[in-house]
Amino acid sequence: MKTGIIDSDAEKIKVNSWNEWDPLRRVMVGRAKGTMVQAPEPAIIRDWPNEGFPKGSYGLVPDELVDAADEQLDNLVKILEKKGVKVDRPSDFDFAQEVSTPDWNQKSMFGCMPPRDVLAVVGNEILEATMSQRSRWHEYLCYRPLIINYFKNDSKMKWEAAPKPRLSDESFNKNFWEKYEKLSNEEKLIKVRENDLILTDEEPLFDAADISRFGKDLFVQLSLVTNKLGYKWIKNHFKDHRVHAVTFDNYYPQHIDATFVPLKPGMVLHCGERTADPELIRYFEKNDWQIIKAEKPSKTYKTLPRMSFCSPWLSMNLLSIDQNTIVVEESEKMQIEQLDKLGFNVVPVPFWDVAPFGGGLHCATVDIEREGEMEDYFP
Ligand code: ARG
Repeated sequence: MKTGIIDSDAEKIKVNSWNEWDPLRRVMVGRAKGTMVQAPEPAIIRDWPNEGFPKGSYGLVPDELVDAADEQLDNLVKILEKKGVKVDRPSDFDFAQEVSTPDWNQKSMFGCMPPRDVLAVVGNEILEATMSQRSRWHEYLCYRPLIINYFKNDSKMKWEAAPKPRLSDESFNKNFWEKYEKLSNEEKLIKVRENDLILTDEEPLFDAADISRFGKDLFVQLSLVTNKLGYKWIKNHFKDHRVHAVTFDNYYPQHIDATFVPLKPGMVLHCGERTADPELIRYFEKNDWQIIKAEKPSKTYKTLPRMSFCSPWLSMNLLSIDQNTIVVEESEKMQIEQLDKLGFNVVPVPFWDVAPFGGGLHCATVDIEREGEMEDYFP
């Protein structure tokens, strides 16, 4: 059939990725340029007085940070391309714009990093997450040119967007941050386990990076950016999957990919500092999975890069090229050595300059195509 929309010279695109480890064929890599220190909103507090961004202020992230991050992102692209992986980059977008919906007005957006937060690829489907911050509500737009190109050139691709949230004041617990900071660590963890955090259950909210893909099983972390209704939406949406809600002992849970990271069938890397639900551990052990406690990160909270809001555990935020080959941040010597001993080929890549833009190697990428089909690793 000639539809007129298929470009006959177009390369073959196949959206297909069921897990985090099958051989990688095509990947999206984010960009730092244009990223903003977000203007105030109920979901987050930014306060960097020493960097010229005291609480309440906002603006473009300083050029020297952007240039350093983009250099490392471009370098990652070269390394992936050398390994035969096709890489796509989002186009420029003006994130400094003020944006609004009928319910609110937000003085700035954020950036096209990290793409992992916005897009979930599950099998042949690309799902745009709801997101749960006003500054990130419009972020899908910077990935749309790529998504539309995939859609035009892939006859099987499913393209979905979760219901756009209102993010009105009702979606956020009032004065949450002030109250939360006053709690003891034990009290915080009770709230984490119950997912009684900044988000209310007014509407489904989730970030894609709270989903971890293990073939037929999807694990969804309830967090500061994913609520119970968000989990319910994901569970009802992916009917052919077993979808599990999980929590960890993490005072500021946000995105599962520095906490519980699959390496290959039967082996998952776990941030030991963030104890998992006993039920989750039982599920893995019952199915003969090895749970590997990740080695110590190279950084401490005190030595993180300027303006980074991530934790030192980006050390385990890695990107698998296949079951044996893993890209890891180059200064994470202990993590590298551990993976080496487990028999993986580690590709070291400098990446810590990307942290101020929201993450590490897994966050900054979205695998669009990996070989392989849906399999059940927990039969
Ligand atoms: N919030 C995590 C941590 O600091 C980092 C994970 C970021 N992941 C992402 N997809 N943006 O430990």
